[in-house]
Amino acid sequence: MVNEFSTPVVPTIEPVMQPSIEPMLPRLYQVQRTHKETHETFTLELTPEDGQPLVFTPGQFNMLYAFGMGECAISISGDPADSSKLMHTTRIVGTVTTALSKLRPGDVLGIRGPFGRGWSMDLAEGNDVVFVAGGIGLAPLRPAICHVLNHREKYGKVVLLLGTRTPQDIVFRRDLQKWRSRLDVEVLVTVDRAESGWQGNVGVVTGLIRRAPFDRLNTIAMICGPEIMMQFTVMELLKRGVPAEKIYVTMERNMKCAIGFCGHCQLGPNFLCKDGPVFRYDEIKFWFEQREF
Ligand SMILES: Cc1cc2nc3c(=O)[nH]c(=O)nc-3n(C[C@H](O)[C@H](O)[C@H](O)COP(=O)(O)OP(=O)(O)OC[C@H]3O[C@@H](n4cnc5c(N)ncnc54)[C@H](O)[C@@H]3O)c2cc1C
Ligand code: FES
Repeated sequence: MVNEFSTPVVPTIEPVMQPSIEPMLPRLYQVQRTHKETHETFTLELTPEDGQPLVFTPGQFNMLYAFGMGECAISISGDPADSSKLMHTTRIVGTVTTALSKLRPGDVLGIRGPFGRGWSMDLAEGNDVVFVAGGIGLAPLRPAICHVLNHREKYGKVVLLLGTRTPQDIVFRRDLQKWRSRLDVEVLVTVDRAESGWQGNVGVVTGLIRRAPFDRLNTIAMICGPEIMMQFTVMELLKRGVPAEKIYVTMERNMKCAIGFCGHCQLGPNFLCKDGPVFRYDEIKFWFEQREF
């Protein structure tokens, strides 16, 4: 009841956070270089038409728009310290990725982003860091690897474990060679099926975890690959004694808006586009363990 001495009660309405219009507007980027990684994978090096470099953190992704064909989420695969070019490494699976694979130097595409929560590079400081990649899963890990190597003194042992189907499916070969030649990085590669001439490891990537040199209690693990590979990798790391809260995985779902609006990327209570795509394993353990979650 309002009388002359009281202040009228005005219902409070919680302000609704509206995203600015900008995250939905693609910026134009020009292809500078294309690089064929494998028979089905390629890397695009891009520069912004407006000259403004895109600042990102390792593990974030962009929405790449191939004109007339559509948009898809692709992780940023470049070195975060090198703002001269934006890199994306993509496997050809369908309409948009095929259109992107046909782009040539000078062509233009649209980019929205960067989006999402990436790898916890700060929390990893002072720890050994183990990267476990399955196939093209090395792409979202590459910026994190570059970051660790750019700030090598802040981290303990650095181990990269990569598993692919065959030797032909190995991406970033030049990087692997470069990293292998360093004395302060352990790089182990394995293939499911060897071909003639292959002299390396054969078997699944989880087989490498047992003999990888890291201090189990003082290690941050960052994993990216097919979901089944990530599930087995997590199990093996837990078996080896790495605490669940020190294991990070990156998830993939079909994305549309990339800003938490459309619900396409929902995983339990989380939206992958804004709460992920990188999660601490114990944050999503329940969903991660469901079949076809
Ligand atoms: C955060 C995030 C980061 C990603 N980073 C990369 C990356 O760095 N490199 C890369 O090659 N791909 C990445 N992807 C996957 C990529 O977005 C899809 O491969 C792409 O959307 C396929 O588009 P398309 O139009 O070519 O295929 P479509 O014609 O849409 O689909 C072709 C086939 O692929 C399946 N598919 C489509 N999207 C996905 C998906 N997200 N996950 C699993 N299967 C899918 C479809 O079900 C269908 O069977 C990422 C996805 C997310 C969500
Ligand atoms: S893609 Fe729309 S909510 Fe995540």
